[in-house]
Amino acid sequence: MNDSTLNLACGLLSEGPPPPETRGGALVLADTNTAAWIPQTWTHLPQHLIEPGEASKSWDELGRLLTALDQAGVDRDGHLLAVGGGVVTDLGGLAASLHRRGIRWTAVPTSLIGQVDAAVGGKTAVNLGGGKNTVGSFHPPAQVLVDPRALTTLAAEHLASGLAEVLKTALIAGAESYASVRNLTPQVMAQGGEAAAEVLSRCLATKTDLVQQDLYDEGPRQLLNLGHTFGHALESLRLGALLHGEAVGLGLLCAVRLAAGSPDTALETELRELLCGWGLPVQQRLAPAAVLAAMGRDKKRQDGGHTAVLLHAPGRVVLRSAVPAAALEAALGAVLAGT
Ligand SMILES: NC(=O)c1ccc[n+]([C@@H]2O[C@H](COP(=O)([O-])OP(=O)(O)OC[C@H]3O[C@@H](n4cnc5c(N)ncnc54)[C@H](O)[C@@H]3O)[C@@H](O)[C@H]2O)c1
Repeated sequence: MNDSTLNLACGLLSEGPPPPETRGGALVLADTNTAAWIPQTWTHLPQHLIEPGEASKSWDELGRLLTALDQAGVDRDGHLLAVGGGVVTDLGGLAASLHRRGIRWTAVPTSLIGQVDAAVGGKTAVNLGGGKNTVGSFHPPAQVLVDPRALTTLAAEHLASGLAEVLKTALIAGAESYASVRNLTPQVMAQGGEAAAEVLSRCLATKTDLVQQDLYDEGPRQLLNLGHTFGHALESLRLGALLHGEAVGLGLLCAVRLAAGSPDTALETELRELLCGWGLPVQQRLAPAAVLAAMGRDKKRQDGGHTAVLLHAPGRVVLRSAVPAAALEAALGAVLAGT
């Protein structure tokens, strides 16, 4: 189950996509906000609703979902339909990989982060022990249904958070993509129309290209961790207070500072202005040493130092191993203090 069928169209969900063949039963997973986006054509299927937010990406919630799949009579030929943001698709994908040793699932991402990133590529996870995504699997969805209209009901802070992932993807893709994202406003995405669809389509092309080259994240796919080496540590220290994309935005600033080794490069200044303009944080009251310690617990750490993704320029993103802790701490110290 390595390839997903990806459908992107405005109005896809209101048109009522047919439910997948469900000889073995089916369960729809959503949170209490995203349940409104369950297509009318699926409302006859049993549902399992969770509370919105990162706290639901937990071991306990995973257990409840596995129990719900069991009680709904979903067997090996069954299907899980996950309608929601990254929390719903990360949790749902992991449950689908475990139930009866793996069932098929459909991802219906409704947040911007979900539509450009989380629902595509098959990485699933829950958080455990204070760390991000500590327990997970690779289990790509059978299909991904992306409807930009879902963005019309997304809260402004979550839209802004998603723009950080859009920016990350554009920086990996190159100068042309980055230039188009520099002109992007949250309003364009909030309208959920063809212009938003175009942005999503570009991001998805970049992500699926890297995933197809390297499903198991052992090579080029690791470039997608740009901003995340720092971001996951920041997010885990501020779980519930700092949104995923907010942490990734700060992580992008760290990645450019680490690459340049000096303050005030033109790119760092541009990124800071862009993030600020979207309402995202560009500094944070956290001790660099605490963030470094959290990075030390991150699963991507390797012997002899950290692996980090350095941002030299749009399209010039480099994976570097054995980065000394002192260099990371210096970049963190400067960015967190906003200097
Ligand atoms: N698996 C991956 O490759 C991957 C990639 C990036 C991020 N992630 C994960 O994704 C999560 C962040 O994603 P997120 O920002 O979507 O979080 P989320 O699922 O918590 O969604 C954010 C909020 O928006 C609400 N929401 C979502 N869609 C809505 C809509 N259309 N209308 C109204 N409200 C809506 C949700 O209920 C929630 O309150 C993090 O846990 C992160 O680790 C995973």
